[in-house]
Amino acid sequence: MGYTLTILGCGVMGQALLSAIYNAPKAAEETAHFYPSTIITCNHDELSTKQVVDLVATFGESPNGIQVESSYGQNEEAVKRASVVILATKPFYVEPVLNECRYPYEKHLISLAAGWTISQLRGYWGGRVSRVMTNTPAKYGYGCAVVSHAPEVNSKEKQLVAQLISHVGKYIELPEKNMDAATALVGSGPAFVLLMIESLMESGIQMGIPLKESKECALKVLEGTVKMVEKSGEHPSALKHQVCTPGGTTIAGLCVMEDRGVKSGIIRGVEEASKVAAQLGQKK
Ligand SMILES: NC(=O)c1ccc[n+]([C@@H]2O[C@H](COP(=O)([O-])OP(=O)(O)OC[C@H]3O[C@@H](n4cnc5c(N)ncnc54)[C@H](OP(=O)(O)O)[C@@H]3O)[C@@H](O)[C@H]2O)c1
Repeated sequence: MGYTLTILGCGVMGQALLSAIYNAPKAAEETAHFYPSTIITCNHDELSTKQVVDLVATFGESPNGIQVESSYGQNEEAVKRASVVILATKPFYVEPVLNECRYPYEKHLISLAAGWTISQLRGYWGGRVSRVMTNTPAKYGYGCAVVSHAPEVNSKEKQLVAQLISHVGKYIELPEKNMDAATALVGSGPAFVLLMIESLMESGIQMGIPLKESKECALKVLEGTVKMVEKSGEHPSALKHQVCTPGGTTIAGLCVMEDRGVKSGIIRGVEEASKVAAQLGQKK
């Protein structure tokens, strides 16, 4: 008989994790014990709970035999029943939600909340706290998750987090000092890339390529470039120079982009997002 995993706050990210863990491929015998037998999802109101129920109804049978119970207004009871709790409410609901189930020392808390440091969470939960920053592509298995652990989290608990969270896509462990930067780069990152996709699409439209084909071109350029960087192992600068014929079209375009500060705009934008992430933590 496996353990119970409770998801406190099952919205965009909670549902992405629910879907990733529930639909994970059948685990090997030596890792099967990392998977819960039951996941309890907790929301605040009936309407959002129905969304979770409707989502689960689209799933087939879980390859690891996981059952889902969806609830609302039952946080305390659901935390009592769990040995592992994923916290996925918006940051401003974290305090009231944790106050409802204060100091469950023996349980392991995995927090997704931006800006909430391990030390702040320990004030409500005791020691066994892991912090995860992931992003919306997790919903499709192409997410990225950056993870830090409190010193009290033991190696088995770290393995459990890695096993479950890696199903969102890429799993990376970093020291907590990097979490505000990860919040900006990983958490907010999809919005920055979407801005780039939108800009490329609109460049096509501006020059007379229809919307549908502009979108197809922009997406394929992005996908192909990512694959090229991954497969070649080369630095993006080296690959960029391979596209630049002397006196040609690409270098002309890049010069205008440099004039407009595109690169420093991106760097400073991500940096600004990380400053806001750090401020979220200081407000508490
Ligand atoms: N969205 C992103 O791109 C992203 C990226 C990285 C990190 N994150 C982090 O992920 C966390 C969740 O963000 P999200 O975008 O998934 O938020 P969300 O879609 O608003 O989901 C949060 C859920 O929490 C529920 N909730 C609110 N109060 C509750 C309570 N008292 N008890 C139980 N459930 C309650 C809400 O349900 P009701 O509707 O019933 O109130 C809602 O379904 C945040 O802390 C955020 O920092 C998000």
